[in-house]
Amino acid sequence: MTTFDLMIRGGTIATASDVFQADIGIRDGRIVQIGERLASDGPVIDATGKYVLPGGIDSHVHISQPSGDGIVMADDFESGTRSAIFGGNTTVMPFCLQEKGRPMREALNAYHALAEGSCYTDVSFHLIVSDPTDTLLGQELSALAADGYASLKVFMTYEGLRLNDAEILKTLDVARSTGATVMVHCENEDAIRFLIARHEAAGDVAPRAHAATRPVAVEREATHRALTLAEIADVPIVIVHVSNGEAMEEISRARARGLKVVGETCPQYLMLTADDLDGMDWEGAKFVCSPPPRDKAAQADCWRGIETGVFDLFSSDHCPFRYEDERGKLNAKGRQSFRHIPNGIPGVETRLPILFSEGVMKGRIDLPRFVALSATNHAKTYGLYPQKGTIGIGADADLAIWDPSLTRRIRHADLHDGADYSPYEGIEVTGWPTTVILGGHVMIRDGELLGRKGQGRYRPARTRPVPST
Ligand code: URP
Ligand code: ZN
Ligand code: ZN
Repeated sequence: MTTFDLMIRGGTIATASDVFQADIGIRDGRIVQIGERLASDGPVIDATGKYVLPGGIDSHVHISQPSGDGIVMADDFESGTRSAIFGGNTTVMPFCLQEKGRPMREALNAYHALAEGSCYTDVSFHLIVSDPTDTLLGQELSALAADGYASLKVFMTYEGLRLNDAEILKTLDVARSTGATVMVHCENEDAIRFLIARHEAAGDVAPRAHAATRPVAVEREATHRALTLAEIADVPIVIVHVSNGEAMEEISRARARGLKVVGETCPQYLMLTADDLDGMDWEGAKFVCSPPPRDKAAQADCWRGIETGVFDLFSSDHCPFRYEDERGKLNAKGRQSFRHIPNGIPGVETRLPILFSEGVMKGRIDLPRFVALSATNHAKTYGLYPQKGTIGIGADADLAIWDPSLTRRIRHADLHDGADYSPYEGIEVTGWPTTVILGGHVMIRDGELLGRKGQGRYRPARTRPVPST
């Protein structure tokens, strides 16, 4: 009889293309056999009545990212990846922020030191280009791409982070020659500043004004511009955290012109609206993120994008700040303006249950589409496929076993991140990942944490093929 290190028996397996009944044999951290009625002397997990899916890959999370004077992110690698694994994820991709005037390597060394020995999931890093110096663009990024740092995020908004069009073009050009993948945060900073000044002058300083000063037009224009710059530079592009139908139209039009565009949306654009920023007193700050949640029509548009393929990626944009904390959301209250509220909300643990419940269980998408949106497309976009993101011979044994009959109400008290609230508090979901396996190690078993921090490892990413001209 064959002996596997672990066998998963009797589950319904789904990949991005197929759904089938089979057993999975795991050895040395990888999937070595998939078949009917496998036999093993080793440990077996009975997955009868459950779905066996690739572990989620959340390719857009912020962990331990410097966030400005007096502001501290609520999650470090330990709490952020602990929360991620409880939510059915086995890989997360946080952002390493280049400090202005400093080499990217320096930031990376510090970021690796924070992650080392602390992770419950595997991690792979994106780089945030905040200071596109000649040295960074001319030398450093190509060396880093070859070393496994194959994706860059650029911002069109945020003081201290935004790049101008010339800088974005230069960064896209580097991506073209190195095969790196560029993610763009599309909001027009000058238009936002204009609107902030107008609202503050009118005394409109409560959290709700955050949404009013970042309207759809701000995102639509920047999305159009980012896509145009990518077209001019002749390079694929990822448009992250798309919140509405008008920005989606820009993506569809650019694709029709022949541009390779990957589109990403997030739970907040399906589940929240700008009305949530109205909460009593300063409570609306709990929902402040950029782009902001919109309205019911935009939610419906985003669902359409999930269903029809405008979106390839469903990520959390987990960016947690504590609410009852001067170093978090309440920092801005004393400063009398929504402008100072740290942007970002938690969601790495609830991303997949929300998509499963609202998407699969409500019949909007099928299981293969769920797998594509939650894992496979992330691995393909960011150079981790086929080692990650699928169930196949030789792939890492990163698996989430879902109980589709389990109904839970989301309560922050039951979650595992470092924030003190969930924007999805009280929402009922059906379907939850009850057992999660990372590289053949059972990290979560029937909802109980068995894994140890440090079992998650850093994984370098591969670049795209580079065109010969
Ligand atoms: O508000 C957000 N999305 N904060 C996270 C940073 C970013 O722009 O992704
Ligand atoms: Zn962003
Ligand atoms: Zn983000």
